[in-house]
Amino acid sequence: MIRLLKKILPETILNRIIIKRRDFRSSSWHFKKIASVGKGTTYEKGFKIYNGHKNIQIGNNVFLVDTLLNAGDDLGSITIGNSVTFGHRVMVLARGHEYKKNGKERQQAITEKPIRIEDDAWIGSGSILLAGIIIGKGSVVGAGSVVTKNIPPKCIYAGNPAKLIKKL
Ligand SMILES: CC(C)(COP(=O)(O)OP(=O)(O)OC[C@H]1O[C@@H](n2cnc3c(N)ncnc32)[C@H](O)[C@@H]1OP(=O)(O)O)[C@@H](O)C(=O)NCCC(=O)NCCS
Repeated sequence: MIRLLKKILPETILNRIIIKRRDFRSSSWHFKKIASVGKGTTYEKGFKIYNGHKNIQIGNNVFLVDTLLNAGDDLGSITIGNSVTFGHRVMVLARGHEYKKNGKERQQAITEKPIRIEDDAWIGSGSILLAGIIIGKGSVVGAGSVVTKNIPPKCIYAGNPAKLIKKL
């Protein structure tokens, strides 16, 4: 269907249709499409995967609540360990655009890097995790943080960009 539309519709209109279709799909649809999910893992209304259901692995007893996951379709992936807790409205973004290009080229040039969140981590509400980072086992990300670099195990990081505030 999409292949046929690609032949007959201008790209901007097609993109709008694709994005609307994605938005209408419910959280349960997204959850069921994840490549691998462990036991006891739960989600809530608002949970969404923007790209790359097949590149997402989630362990046991994870509270996903209304998190947005964008894993990417190629080099990107999102791996979440066991007993990870998400606050509200967290965004995990393994995908971006090639900013050295402009206009339509920038829109189409995708960059992707894997993200890994290890066992027992807690990601505070409103945080944004950027491509290529690892959140170490048992670590905490303060509410509203932007994580641009790896966080070692057993630490609290917070702020924009997230910095060490405490060791656990
Ligand atoms: C990160 C957090 C757990 C730390 O709690 P805490 O140990 O009681 O932290 P403190 O109050 O001792 O703060 C230590 C320092 O970090 C700063 N800090 C704490 N949380 C911060 C945050 N989210 N962003 C930026 N700085 C933060 C404090 O201002 C303080 O700075 P100072 O030393 O310069 O005064 C907590 O602040 C937080 O963000 N919790 C997340 C809550 C949440 O998302 N709940 C949703 C339900 S799951």
